[in-house]
Amino acid sequence: MKKQIKEITLAFTGASGAPYGIRLLECLIAADYHVHLLVSSAARVVLATEHDLKLPANPENAKALLVESLNCNPANLTVSGKDDWFSPVASGSAAPKQMIVCPCSAGSLAAIAHGISDNLIERAADVVMKERGQLLLVVRETPFSTLHLENMHRLSKMGVTIMPAAPGFYHQPKSIDDLVDFMVARILDHLGIEQGLVPRWGYDHRN
Ligand SMILES: Cc1cc2nc3c(=O)[nH]c(=O)nc-3n(C[C@H](O)[C@H](O)[C@H](O)COP(=O)(O)O)c2cc1C
Repeated sequence: MKKQIKEITLAFTGASGAPYGIRLLECLIAADYHVHLLVSSAARVVLATEHDLKLPANPENAKALLVESLNCNPANLTVSGKDDWFSPVASGSAAPKQMIVCPCSAGSLAAIAHGISDNLIERAADVVMKERGQLLLVVRETPFSTLHLENMHRLSKMGVTIMPAAPGFYHQPKSIDDLVDFMVARILDHLGIEQGLVPRWGYDHRN
């Protein structure tokens, strides 16, 4: 019997929080997903600022760098450019049913909330919404303006999950990696993907 491929769309946009995106990519690939990765130009600037990862603009070169730095199987990753309208994620007939934008900028939030679909990230999100799939936005900005809140409210009413990049502290983090893992664990929980990064509330080993 042919093995069912698990597919998911992951977009990095230009909000602070690049380490969340990279760790999530690593975990999705470790869970044997085929990840369709989309990276905005602002996200590349943020990555270079926050993660020392200078991702090339060319999708093939970006993929080569990620495969090397994450030491992962190239078959688990596709990187598409912002105008790659022939990508599977651009059409409801082929797009994965789950998509995460992590981190999600206020700009991408606004574009998605208003169906702009002017680049592949916005189009892919629009497709997941119209196909009634699962869309998760890990929004990062502070403070939120009324406009940001209205855009989040608008999307939430349509069934989109808004997860502010706001890690908790009840697992007593000792490092930045612990904080990153907290957010990534919550995202994986929402996607229904098994994770052992952080225990779920009530399932830890308290004395
Ligand atoms: C280092 C850096 C950090 C940024 N952090 C944020 C942020 O946390 N939230 C946000 O909404 N925009 C942030 N921005 C601004 C966005 O990158 C900018 O609005 C961009 O146009 C978003 O485009 P995109 O959504 O297509 O990635 C940041 C920019 C840079 C360079």
